[in-house]
Amino acid sequence: MIVLRIEHLTFGYSKDRLIFKDFNLEVRQGEVVSIVGPSGVGKSTLFELTGGFLKPISGSIWVDRFSSVFQDPYTSFHPSYKILDQIAEVCQIEGIEEIARQMDIDSDLLQKLPHKLSGGQLQRCSILRAIMMRPKLLLADEPTSALDNVTSLKVMKLLLSYLDRVGILLITHDMDLAKWCSDRIIKLGTEPVALSPTPFASDLEVL
Ligand SMILES: Nc1ncnc2c1ncn2[C@@H]1O[C@H](COP(=O)(O)OP(=O)(O)O)[C@@H](O)[C@H]1O
Ligand SMILES: [Mg+2]
Repeated sequence: MIVLRIEHLTFGYSKDRLIFKDFNLEVRQGEVVSIVGPSGVGKSTLFELTGGFLKPISGSIWVDRFSSVFQDPYTSFHPSYKILDQIAEVCQIEGIEEIARQMDIDSDLLQKLPHKLSGGQLQRCSILRAIMMRPKLLLADEPTSALDNVTSLKVMKLLLSYLDRVGILLITHDMDLAKWCSDRIIKLGTEPVALSPTPFASDLEVL
């Protein structure tokens, strides 16, 4: 089952400088597709187009029920409401404590306002919210940018285990992360190039 289909996408912030020209991409249920490439190439732009936050110049984007993890953890939550209330606003929170515990998020953190948390804690809360929404597609733009390597790997493992049957569009500049978790890697450059599939390294252990 396809959970994301992008066809003939053309987009640029100005018409004389296109970032995407006739770009196509499909993501299936259970598939992890990573978008990699250097800074400024258009990764976040693709995330915003897919999430419907930007409109294409032409082409179509069809997406199943999705949840998002944004690149900047500080703008991921409204500053005036407690984290748990914001999560409860968008999904069922039954069982949240257990998943939070596995992500090293104390339940008292969930009762706090966003500015009381560190960037890393907020990013994990943002991932927690995305998991709790039980999407068909997870859109994640540099979801572990505020986490150290060990925590990042642990959180990604959890994400992949909870969202086993879900499609994931992972935007990252971290090729090692992409190689570790992806079924397919798309490298954005002047011409988008699909790299060969890499096996899921399920034997990689988190220390
Ligand atoms: N809101 C915007 N208005 C105009 N140009 C933008 C805007 N956002 C990003 N850009 C430009 O579009 C290009 C792609 O940016 P972005 O998608 O953020 O790249 P990446 O996420 O790969 O680092 C960059 O040249 C960037 O400067
Ligand atoms: Mg970006």
